Amino acid sequence: MSTEKKKNKTILSGIQPSGHLCIGNYVGALKNWVDLQYEYNSIFLVVDLHAITVRQTPSELRKQCLSFLAQYIACGIDPDTSTMVMQSHVSQHAELSWVLSTLTSMGELNRMTQFKDKSKRHSQNINAGLFTYPVLMAADILLYQADVVPVGADQKQHLELARDLAQRFNSRYSPTFSVPEPYIPKSGARVMSLQNPMKKMSKSDDNLNNLIALLDPPDVITRKIKRAVTDSGTDIRYDEVSRPGLANLISLYSSLSGMDIPTVENHFAGKQYSVLKKDLADLIVETLIPIQETYHSIIQDKDYLESILFNGANTAKYLARRTMSKVYRKVGFVVPKKEK
Ligand code: TYM
Repeated sequence: MSTEKKKNKTILSGIQPSGHLCIGNYVGALKNWVDLQYEYNSIFLVVDLHAITVRQTPSELRKQCLSFLAQYIACGIDPDTSTMVMQSHVSQHAELSWVLSTLTSMGELNRMTQFKDKSKRHSQNINAGLFTYPVLMAADILLYQADVVPVGADQKQHLELARDLAQRFNSRYSPTFSVPEPYIPKSGARVMSLQNPMKKMSKSDDNLNNLIALLDPPDVITRKIKRAVTDSGTDIRYDEVSRPGLANLISLYSSLSGMDIPTVENHFAGKQYSVLKKDLADLIVETLIPIQETYHSIIQDKDYLESILFNGANTAKYLARRTMSKVYRKVGFVVPKKEK
């Protein structure tokens, strides 16, 4: 890792390998990972243990895990700079999660909005893992002593729990964990569904017209943006409350172009919604084409992808063992004799 990186500062984040990695994940999280990776020591997880809180087809999940890793790299995560880890390759995630669960109250987990939403969506499978999910996420973060966690706005509540658990452990035993700060972008922190702009764009949405997948072909992207729900107004002005569909498109344009919202409004002053839609579709295509090209050039190279995971797991295990041996000692476990 480069010596110019902020000394001893670590960023860490992760994505569940389910559904279709979408433009919401990109502007809310991935794009910022790419920007921040050269400033910090960086660890990016494919969180497969989290993914099985919802029923998955095993053969599909296995493909998805490698596909997500390839998409991280295609988006610009640099394997020479960042550590990329398959969560299940490092058993300490589950071990720390267990210890932290003994410091977490049922009430804290009951308040989690993602649990409430997912319980509604998967009412036939409200399993204990779905309930304790935020504790595993706290373990992901605290295991590597992460200082900064770049995520979208929907993860803020989970991040607060991770901070509370770090502080609780530190004060009950002695300082052990860094207390992580969320990094939530100013624009793009909550990209909304294209057909229903009152709800968040989700990579696991059954209706694919609600999302732009990073691997959608250009004609599909253009069609989905063209059909995005707006309103009967004519001028292009940002108003989240009365014109949520339009606001979502303006905000996406802002995130991808780097222009702030007032500049986007000026840019489209006097133009029709159809112009904004066309320009936005072109901008998304322009952003995604190079990502798709890189993706297609590496996805068949299983050896390359597995070697990245092998190196990632080695680095991660070293850090994870260091944290876990401290944790086990502090909670009062007998330290095992070293194997000869
Ligand atoms: P997940 O897999 O649902 O989403 C991955 C990342 O994408 C962000 N995101 C969005 N940002 C903007 N607009 C949207 N519509 C949108 N949808 C998703 C999410 O905020 C997230 O940053 N629990 C996490 C995964 C996780 C994790 C971690 C994250 C597990 N362990 C440790 C950080 C650190 C999740 O379900 O994200």
